[in-house]
Parts: sequence; structure tokens; C-alpha cells
Amino acid sequence: MPYAQWSDSLSIGVKAIDDQHKQLVQMLNDLCDAFDSPDRENVVATCLSKMKKYSQEHFTDEEQLMKDNNYPEIEAHIKEHEIFIEKVSAYKAAQIEQYLPFQDMLEFLKSWLVEHITESDQKIAAFLKR
Ligand SMILES: [Fe+2]
Repeated sequence: MPYAQWSDSLSIGVKAIDDQHKQLVQMLNDLCDAFDSPDRENVVATCLSKMKKYSQEHFTDEEQLMKDNNYPEIEAHIKEHEIFIEKVSAYKAAQIEQYLPFQDMLEFLKSWLVEHITESDQKIAAFLKR
């Protein structure tokens, strides 16, 4: 069973964003699997780099969607995105220094994704439907 699983409860009802969220869930599972790779150091590093790049692109899309629709809580939302990027960057740095707390990292990323999607992102969706 994968570490994280997509379910309809994570849908925000905007297909392009849902598809990107599915990718992020997949990337989290790839990162989890990387731990068992014989080439762990390299595979984990690659997964973290991909996740950082992809989430930056995804956040840019989401932020554009908020701007285009004059979403009132955009500032707070962008702050949450920044925290995620800072965290992933810190994990990358920790990985290079070989003190990466792997399980803590997985748990943080999973709970951030689920909470951010079901609370903050679904709030955007609710606003758009009005
Ligand atoms: Fe978001």
C-alpha cells in the first residue's frame, strides 16, 4: 500500500490543480520508496529536488488562480506555500549533511499536503464557486 493515497476528499474541483496535487502525492510516495533503494542517497536527493521544483511550479499556478479571482486570503495562503518550500529546502540541505530525519520528513510532508489541500486549497475552491 502506498504511503499516501489520493482520494476524492482531496479534490478541490479544479481539474488542473487536482492533477498537480495527484502528482505531489505520487512524488511523496516516490520519496518514501527511495528509502529502500540501494542507491538511497542519490535517489532521495533526486526526489527532493523534483518535489521542490514541481511544488514551486504548482504554487505559481495556484497563486495565479488566486490573483486572477481576487482571492481575499491570498497573502496567508502564499505564506503556507513558502513554509513548504523552506521545509523541502531544509530537508535537501539536511540530506546533503546526512542528518535527514527521514520518517519525520515523510510525516511532515504528508500532513502538510493533506491539511493544506483540505483546508486552504478547498477554501479557494469554495470561493470560486460563489
Ligand atoms: Fe495551496
